[in-house]
Amino acid sequence: MTDSIQITDRGAVREIRIHRPEKKNALNTAMYSQLADAVAQAGAADSVRCALFAGSQGAFSSGNDIQDFLNNPASGEDHPVAQFMRVMADFPKPAVAGVLGPAVGIGSTLLLHCDLIYAGQGARFMLPFVNLGICPEFASSLLLPRMMGHPRAAELTMLAEPFDAAKAYEYGLINAVLDDSAVEESAFAIAEKLAAKPPRAMRTTKDLLKRWTKAQVQEAIREEAALFMPMLHEPEAREAFSAFVEKRKPDFSQFV
Ligand code: COA
Repeated sequence: MTDSIQITDRGAVREIRIHRPEKKNALNTAMYSQLADAVAQAGAADSVRCALFAGSQGAFSSGNDIQDFLNNPASGEDHPVAQFMRVMADFPKPAVAGVLGPAVGIGSTLLLHCDLIYAGQGARFMLPFVNLGICPEFASSLLLPRMMGHPRAAELTMLAEPFDAAKAYEYGLINAVLDDSAVEESAFAIAEKLAAKPPRAMRTTKDLLKRWTKAQVQEAIREEAALFMPMLHEPEAREAFSAFVEKRKPDFSQFV
């Protein structure tokens, strides 16, 4: 299947791979649904001690499918994207990510909910929400300023330009920059190390690291979505999505 979330168990590591290479692993509704199930199942299965997130064919994820934003915009707290965000933010076991190529939109904000993140030199991150006439999601409006301070969070979300792995490292978004060729196996080796540690102590450690912000994170996810979802229907966003699909520059000059 070319349009799916691929799940592979490698020992106690559950690899969750975003696979839609012809669209740089853009996520559509069906894929969010599969991701929500994959994360819930990885959290519940005793045989799984660590999750490893990866993309396919040199890309992590180009974020939400923009054609879907245009034709099939998400709405409501039961939408698969909302389910995925909730379950991912509460994932109780260690989560590692290996990032190659583009990690855009939710492809970047997903990393805020992983624990150890390794990116290749060629990784390109971007939080393009404002450029698309929408706003930050997945609790990124809460987590980014906490992690890196307001000026850097403002740069990434207001200037909203692509940035490389060196900047992601400098800003504290990732743990290390590696050669592209080393990312997959290094991320797996780290996941294996985490999976070999005492599982209850590991879960308690992660729970403590997250406990103090857990309720706030879920609240941020809800409040952002309450703004984000209606914005998908607004003229600014419709212009941005149409421009992407039509491969032209958007024109925001008529908006006030
Ligand atoms: N939604 C839908 N289609 C997407 C997509 C997305 N988020 N990202 C890429 N694609 C499609 C492209 O339209 C293109 O389709 P085509 O072959 O039918 O023309 C194909 O995937 C390959 O993308 P392309 O832009 O040619 O690859 P690239 O390597 O030059 O650039 C990106 C990769 C990710 C930098 C670029 O595609 C991009 O900016 N995508 C949009 C990212 C985005 O804004 N996501 C929404 C976040 S909220």
